[in-house]
Amino acid sequence: MATEQTYIMIKPDGVQRGLTGEIIGRFERRGYKLVAMKLVHASQEHLEKHYADLKGKPFFPGLVKYMASGPVVAMVWEGKDVVKQGRALLGATNPLASAPGTIRGDFAIDVGRNICHGSDAVESAKKEIALWFGEQNPTINYTRAVDTWV
Ligand code: RTP
Repeated sequence: MATEQTYIMIKPDGVQRGLTGEIIGRFERRGYKLVAMKLVHASQEHLEKHYADLKGKPFFPGLVKYMASGPVVAMVWEGKDVVKQGRALLGATNPLASAPGTIRGDFAIDVGRNICHGSDAVESAKKEIALWFGEQNPTINYTRAVDTWV
């Protein structure tokens, strides 16, 4: 089966609202495999690297401050089409456009407090996984029960 990995991050508001288990559960129930995870209170410098593409945007300083305001859950999820499907599970960036049934559509009302992040392409996922977990063996290989059942 063709497989890929994506970087999913529960932002400080998601952690503080106790949504970590809910978000992990949605990825697990969809059929995706968690292959790396850590709780990290990132520095502003690290977050500026993560959001380097947005450096010129007027909301950039507020975004970095918000992301550095508390710990985030950094995760790597693996499975078929997980980059696109991960974004679908999260919902549109602006909760005004997020469909009910998505994470943002069920739990968020403000683009500046939108709970979670997901890589937008396979290439950006590789870069983000390396940034948050390092270049050397960032993920863990194991077999789930479901991998052997069907
Ligand atoms: P993310 O990286 O967090 O998954 O979001 P995204 O790709 O869906 O959207 P992007 O345009 O890369 O924006 C990154 C994050 O910046 C915040 N934002 N605030 N105040 C605003 O108008 C505004 N626009 C974007 C959001 O937290 C967004 O997720």
